[in-house]
Amino acid sequence: MSTIPTPFHLDPAVLQGHLDSQQLRAPLHYFAEIDSTNSEAERLLLAGKETPQIVLASQQTAGRGRRGNAWYSQDLGNLYLSVLLFPNRPPEQMQRFTLWMGLQLCDLLNTQFELPLSVKWPNDLLHQNKKVAGMLTEARIENDLTQAVIFGLGININSDTQQWPDALKNTASSLATVAGHRWDIHEIASALIGRIFKAYQSYVSGDYGTQFDAQWEQWNGIRNRVITVSTQEKHYTGIAQGVTSDGALLLETENGAVLPFQAGDVTLHRTYQP
Ligand code: BTN
Repeated sequence: MSTIPTPFHLDPAVLQGHLDSQQLRAPLHYFAEIDSTNSEAERLLLAGKETPQIVLASQQTAGRGRRGNAWYSQDLGNLYLSVLLFPNRPPEQMQRFTLWMGLQLCDLLNTQFELPLSVKWPNDLLHQNKKVAGMLTEARIENDLTQAVIFGLGININSDTQQWPDALKNTASSLATVAGHRWDIHEIASALIGRIFKAYQSYVSGDYGTQFDAQWEQWNGIRNRVITVSTQEKHYTGIAQGVTSDGALLLETENGAVLPFQAGDVTLHRTYQP
């Protein structure tokens, strides 16, 4: 790993400078340590905030992942980020939101930072089968509208994966490990935040529809893979096919049936060779 000193830890004033230069005006709430940035964004919502807010932390004591999992959130140069947004759209229009955001962040990291990542439906960014980032979207629905969403992103940036617990080392990675050098965390964080706002705008305006299929085609990391989709009830193994217009994953099972999944955890097996 490179010895060139790069800003390892987040300095909120430096990050604010980067956001100002992008004319990104949403208030930034930074914490050296917090329970969970998603929980803090929820507290801001409950306190009556009505405009987008950005919550960032260097460390979380109760970082949350999907399906009740914990998110490993030590102070190791990673990013724990939540953005509070107010789409006011019917819930059925929000079904592809997290997948779209993942595709857009994957696009940014590939094209701007030359990081060869892919998307694992529904919410992970991968490098060679190892998880580099996860997303957790939480929503407040009122009067049949998704009034607010909290888009949470945990991304391993400058972690030296050698310092991680053994169980994590085998399944997860960091941008520093992928690239072989540390990153300027402010540059990456500001680019990610900028893309989150841009992707959100195109999503709520409906413009994203034309780009979605091309982005999925480009960054889909499970194409033709043999996978197991685990729901709360059961495990289903088959070959990953496309996604539907409402974001469901299509799985071709051994008996040829194609099943749609709106939610579930995906385990990757081998690449399918017809
Ligand atoms: C997952 O892969 O299960 C989703 C992980 C999401 C983690 C992020 S870290 C920032 C935000 N705050 C949280 O408590 N969780 C999300």
